[in-house]
Amino acid sequence: MIKAVRGTRDLLPPETALWNHVESVVRDVFRTYNFQEIRTPIFEETQLFARGVGEETDIVSKEMYTWSDHGGVHSDEGQQALDILDDTKISLDERAAHVRAFLAASKLRSQFLTLRPENTAGVVRAYIEHKLGDRGLNKLYYIGPQFRRERPQKGRYRQFYQIGAEVIGPASSGSESPARDAELLEMLATLLDRLGIKNWNLQLNSVGSSADRARYNDVLRKALEPVKDKMCADCQRRAGTNPLRVLDCKVPEDQPIIATLPRIYDYLDDASKKHFEEVTAILESVGVPFEINHRLVRGLDYYTRTAFEFTHGALGAQNAILGGGRYDGLAELLGSPQPAPGIGFAIGEDRLVMALQESIGDAQQKPDVYIAPLGAGMNREAAKLARELRRQDIVAELGDETFRLKKSFETADKLGCRYILILGENEAKSNTFAVKNLKTGEQVSIPRVELAQKLRSGQ
Ligand code: HAM
Repeated sequence: MIKAVRGTRDLLPPETALWNHVESVVRDVFRTYNFQEIRTPIFEETQLFARGVGEETDIVSKEMYTWSDHGGVHSDEGQQALDILDDTKISLDERAAHVRAFLAASKLRSQFLTLRPENTAGVVRAYIEHKLGDRGLNKLYYIGPQFRRERPQKGRYRQFYQIGAEVIGPASSGSESPARDAELLEMLATLLDRLGIKNWNLQLNSVGSSADRARYNDVLRKALEPVKDKMCADCQRRAGTNPLRVLDCKVPEDQPIIATLPRIYDYLDDASKKHFEEVTAILESVGVPFEINHRLVRGLDYYTRTAFEFTHGALGAQNAILGGGRYDGLAELLGSPQPAPGIGFAIGEDRLVMALQESIGDAQQKPDVYIAPLGAGMNREAAKLARELRRQDIVAELGDETFRLKKSFETADKLGCRYILILGENEAKSNTFAVKNLKTGEQVSIPRVELAQKLRSGQ
């Protein structure tokens, strides 16, 4: 039997109803903040993510689905690099070296393509490509699948879905202002509340400008030097390559050491500090609760200043329901002739739905009525009646004139219909129908014109 690929899954009813509900509330809320939808391609040039997300990140160095799109031109070094990426036996360092070689090759020939592991880089590319800034289109949202080759576990998939939004624009549009950060966070709090997600927790930090971060990285590297040998293998490696990521380590034995490391806040320049203070002041004034988490660093390289995550207790180890932050400088990195500061977030929709199920459970759609045509020629009458009722927003299931009454009752029961309506020759003639409530067993005769109202009221 062929099954869904590891890390992917089928979304089935009744869960799909919850997904649709989430997406419709999202669209409603985003609209009132004047966001408009963008849909970018599911695959992009590999270079976009290498440059945008960062070559040293886990996402780019380990988790991307990348292939060489020959188009008749075969690249040996590219193919070799791809083969090596598939080899799980070699060390991460070796793999990283090959990824670099591979990316160098992809710079020469732009035929390397990657399934998008996230959507921010794609949105910023589209923003630059279509000069969206000139058209005032600087508040964009997206809903769609992303792909990362991570080890699957509860709440972590290889194809997962994100709902994200980005505010981006020339500095003159105010896109750099702390007011934008606070507005986005307030929108998220509103959305989660509207959806009925309880007990979310907003974690906030500032990762400063790139100069701040470079300074802090040096300090961290020095602080880690005497203690790194006592830490896990990942931390030992990161202490050299990307010390900031050490703060993200989840290994319990490393926590006491990490708690003693210097805080990034103390290395921010005055402008970054002031920006952060203004974000938190606005949040306080609108009453959005948050916690400052000095260790919150995100797994993508483009972040500057504000970084945040919303977590939820019901999710276990993968407890980040969404993450985001500011990315001033990303547009220039991706070739924008003008600076276009931005800030955004992405919600893990799979996780959001899990948290919702925790709060409200699944609500399976149940038909209002099962129409049971009884006897030859009654399918036509039933089709007419079903059409009438559906146009009045009644969810109707249709039986078949060849069914015996017993079979119709059994089918209606299995589908969870609230009522069964019998449609025989007499009913068709008199335009009055026997309607039975399948829960209470009560049966009444109802004239055609009153049917929809009766079925809707559920009495
Ligand atoms: P991210 O933190 O990598 O950020 O992902 C955002 C959210 O996507 C996570 O908090 C999580 O809920 C969900 N997520 C990530 N990986 C998986 C997975 N394998 N399975 C299920 N859910 C997952 C970004 O992607 C940034 N582009 C967010 C952003 C937008 N920053 C600025 N603008």
